Amino acid sequence: MDRDIWLYLLCALTSCGIRDVLRGIPATLNYISLDTNRGGSPKLTPYPNWAQNVAGDCDNGLTTAYRIHADECDRLWVLDTGTIGIGNTTVQACPYTLNIFDLKTDKVLRKYRLRPDDINQNTFIANIAVDLGKGGCDDAFAYMSDELGYGLIIYSWENNTSWRATHSYFMPDPLKGDYTIDGLNFQWGEEGIFGMSLSPLMADGYRTLFFHPLSSEREFAVSTRILRDPVLALDSYHEFQALPERFMGHSTSEVMDENGLQLFNLVDQNAVGCWNSLLPYSPANHALIARHDEAMIFPADVKIRRGMVWIISDKMPQFLITSLNYTEVNFRILTMPLADAIAGTVCDNAPWKFVDNNALWWGR
Ligand SMILES: *[C@@H]1O[C@H](CO)[C@@H](O)[C@H](O)[C@H]1NC(C)=O
Ligand SMILES: *[C@@H]1O[C@H](CO)[C@@H](O)[C@H](O)[C@H]1NC(C)=O
Ligand SMILES: *[C@@H]1O[C@H](CO)[C@@H](O)[C@H](O)[C@H]1NC(C)=O
Ligand SMILES: *[C@@H]1O[C@H](CO)[C@@H](O)[C@H](O)[C@H]1NC(C)=O
Repeated sequence: MDRDIWLYLLCALTSCGIRDVLRGIPATLNYISLDTNRGGSPKLTPYPNWAQNVAGDCDNGLTTAYRIHADECDRLWVLDTGTIGIGNTTVQACPYTLNIFDLKTDKVLRKYRLRPDDINQNTFIANIAVDLGKGGCDDAFAYMSDELGYGLIIYSWENNTSWRATHSYFMPDPLKGDYTIDGLNFQWGEEGIFGMSLSPLMADGYRTLFFHPLSSEREFAVSTRILRDPVLALDSYHEFQALPERFMGHSTSEVMDENGLQLFNLVDQNAVGCWNSLLPYSPANHALIARHDEAMIFPADVKIRRGMVWIISDKMPQFLITSLNYTEVNFRILTMPLADAIAGTVCDNAPWKFVDNNALWWGR
């Protein structure tokens, strides 16, 4: 499969979750060929194929691919929640599984089931971040945010094992559970740690993991030096930093590019925001890079790849609370050059190349 096509693998909050409710969604992970589709409403093609898109086939299939990440080593990391259904109809058909595909051959490199100790009875893993260290492709870790079980699960590629970290910073802010999106008001009071992004490699050889609970406006940070060590990850309360509040609303997803530019979706603003991590994390240094009250209703995920920003929107609140109107376009993929997106904003004013990573204000 072409390296570029990964961007079109569709698996955001609703395009995947919807399958659970409407049994008519036949494949949980799909792609669109960039060569043949420009505009219009293209048909989705199951990835890697139909046979491996069978819900409940725990050994060979994908059940609910909730989040994906393509890394620099042509591996596609697919987080499968193993659940079928939604709300009180949810059935855990298969264990939580991390599937890693080789994008050059479309073969499964690894299928790792989380250990019973990695999860708890409330676990819902909402996102994944993949950390490539200074040691190259084998020096890889995945961090998985347990939104409802309030934990962070860490997987070591090299040792093929996992462990769980907990911290009170993974919990929601009880004052931030009220949402109004596209005119619909609802409460998600329990949503903890959700979006995560990784800084460039710092002078000490580690990255910083930024993360935030969904029902919160606060960003937090911790060095991967802590998370990568199963002993330190369990007992390093003071190594976690709290950053100031964002005051822009709720965010499910965030991403950081190799220059330290962070983008985050703003689900109740139909928008995506930015922060240049050479500047302090403060409202004055945040800006919107895109907003659209029709095309970006619930911008479920945002990615950066080769200088392009990619956003997927899916009208999730309508789907969950009322119903989708199938005569309208409900799912969109939007893309634009990152340089154009940040032009003229506060995120665009840093001379990246003159700054030593070691001098980043949040570095240790
Ligand atoms: C599940 O939730 C629905 C809608 O909230 C409710 O009508 C139904 O009674 C619930 N079922 C069970 C078994 O709790
Ligand atoms: C793998 O496990 C060994 C033995 O426990 C440990 O020394 C090593 O640091 C681990 N490597 C990684 C990358 O976690
Ligand atoms: C990784 O560990 C799991 C057990 O947790 C095992 O089933 C699997 O075969 C291992 N994979 C590799 C590549 O060692
Ligand atoms: C669905 O969308 C179409 C096109 O925007 C609109 O004409 C129609 O009234 C909508 N239906 C409902 C039930 O809202």
